[in-house]
Amino acid sequence: MESKSNYRVGITEKQVAFFRENGFLSIQRITTDEELESLKTTYDELFRRRAGEEQGLYYDLGAPRGHKGREVLPQVLGPDIHFPNLRQTLYYRNALELSSKLLGIEAASLNQAGLMIMQPARYGCETPWHQDEAYWNPEDILNSLSVWLSLDAATVESGCMQFIPGSNKQGVRWHRHIDNNPLIHGLMTDDVDPSAAIACPVPAGGATFHSPRTLHYTAPNTTGQSRRAYILVCSGPTSKREKVAHRPWQKEERDALAKAGIEVKVF
Ligand code: NI
Repeated sequence: MESKSNYRVGITEKQVAFFRENGFLSIQRITTDEELESLKTTYDELFRRRAGEEQGLYYDLGAPRGHKGREVLPQVLGPDIHFPNLRQTLYYRNALELSSKLLGIEAASLNQAGLMIMQPARYGCETPWHQDEAYWNPEDILNSLSVWLSLDAATVESGCMQFIPGSNKQGVRWHRHIDNNPLIHGLMTDDVDPSAAIACPVPAGGATFHSPRTLHYTAPNTTGQSRRAYILVCSGPTSKREKVAHRPWQKEERDALAKAGIEVKVF
């Protein structure tokens, strides 16, 4: 048996084929119990510090920028800026190896960017249906996926990931900002049939993978336990579209921020 510090996760051809067909995959474990405990400590410290708030790297994804109320969906962008050791974790390494197989791109050509999204106990709001690509540069053709590690047991009630199978093969839907408020960074689409959703509960230390176009959702956290997700976006080289995609919700947000006098360096 391999030592814990060399913990590796395998993936079958069948899982790769499932991911490419459906746009998502879940696995029961991506790191060790020991590392999970240390990740939880780092995670809680980052949220306690509101790490990077002045640089626009910490904010509430589900409520207007700069609001003073209780947070419904706080997130930390670039946690490894504060704790570079995160890049040396088994989680990073396994996420890289698995992403390489799922995307069919050499690991050496992949970049990894981290973010943490927390759904507080009994107060975490839903993450409405959306496709991640709606947030991205409309000039780019993406070659990426997101790895979503849950530090807590994720159930439907606590906000596990739910996906629409096959949506990865379709276009980017029309999106709008939550509450039609462009000061809320979170996007949503109404162009979805939630009855087709597949929920992917995972134990603590389990992970899901999804493509930039896979429609996904998490329900509000109605449990007494926070739902801490640590996401790694693994990206291969992008190429440029012939025609820039039409995503006016991005300009709406920039305009609303400028009007409100809120400077945001990172989106
Ligand atoms: Ni998303």
